[in-house]
Amino acid sequence: MNSIYIHRIGLTAMAVSSMKERSRPHREMTDEDVEGIISGFASAGIRAREAGFDAIQLHGAHGYLLSQFISPLFNHRTDRWGGSTENRRRFHLELVSRVHQAIGDDFPLLIKFGVQDDREGGLSLNEGLETAQQMVHRGIDAIEVSTGVAFERATPIVKKGDPEHLPFRERTAALKRSIEVPVILVGGIRSLQTAENVVDSGDADLLSMSRPLIRQPDLIARKTVSAGGDRYLKRHGRSTSTVPVVLITQIGFVLAQIAPHACRPRHRAGQPPVGVGLDVAELDGRALALQADVANFSQAEETVNTVVEKLGGLDILVCNAGVTWDGVIWKLTEQQWDTVIDTNLKGYFN
Ligand SMILES: Cc1cc2nc3c(=O)[nH]c(=O)nc-3n(C[C@H](O)[C@H](O)[C@H](O)COP(=O)(O)O)c2cc1C
Repeated sequence: MNSIYIHRIGLTAMAVSSMKERSRPHREMTDEDVEGIISGFASAGIRAREAGFDAIQLHGAHGYLLSQFISPLFNHRTDRWGGSTENRRRFHLELVSRVHQAIGDDFPLLIKFGVQDDREGGLSLNEGLETAQQMVHRGIDAIEVSTGVAFERATPIVKKGDPEHLPFRERTAALKRSIEVPVILVGGIRSLQTAENVVDSGDADLLSMSRPLIRQPDLIARKTVSAGGDRYLKRHGRSTSTVPVVLITQIGFVLAQIAPHACRPRHRAGQPPVGVGLDVAELDGRALALQADVANFSQAEETVNTVVEKLGGLDILVCNAGVTWDGVIWKLTEQQWDTVIDTNLKGYFN
């Protein structure tokens, strides 16, 4: 949760290590805090199983808590949770053991793992590979391979002008050679040919995609059984030639729920969204994008209804997640906005 928000309500954000260069208020976690978080993960695992999910994937990548524990760039602790590689990976191993124990042997436990940092002085590939092996011994059933702490926002998942760039292929193949459980490649897969090539080459057992499925939610139906895919599209009243309509809601929606004081006055007053259908942009001629500025669920519903009424349907609803900047969309420069669109929406799959 946003550290400024939680400070306002009288709490202080916890961090793996205190970082002097960070101006936002925070403090280093105590041993008790660390134990509390591990127990929290275990209880969440039980709830997920009881709620009917088919599997659990821990998020151990992209600079979040697990990546920070294992990265020498973020973990400067001097207790049993920091220092040597063995100590920095202790959080991962304890977490995997405890969640595995909580959910049981017969329930799949996966991890998306930043097997190396893409920043100088960060987690090395060898440290990551060893950690992965140890996590498998503690109960991990499959590993999706990604980055830990990356260089800068949006790298290396974006590479302009090279739609078939697979930034994690090499590290995924290295992991595949070191462990027995299935290994999953993610990032940049944009064609059936590439997908088949990766699996046939033995570099990965399974494939994971994000942006192609945001861009074409019916991709699997289309690519797998074409007759079945057609039936799917018909059932949803669509033809393959329809230009998708994309609605991008912006962060006010989330903010209004958790931090009303941080919202613009219009959000606080619960006034209706503006400009639906006015702010239309073409994305490479392949989609119509609309930006809506909504503050609560009923406004979101109203916005969706307006779009459907005006344009006959809505294909994709994107909350401004993924790549975004601190601040609001209408203050982005054209170049920043391009990057948001490039990163979040242009994962076209052929
Ligand atoms: C809009 C958006 C939101 C994302 N949110 C998450 C997330 O919550 N957790 C996560 O592990 N990865 C997240 N990612 C990263 C994707 O899971 C994936 O690793 C990355 O986009 C590379 O795969 P792709 O080239 O198939 O999109 C997000 C990506 C996008 C575009």
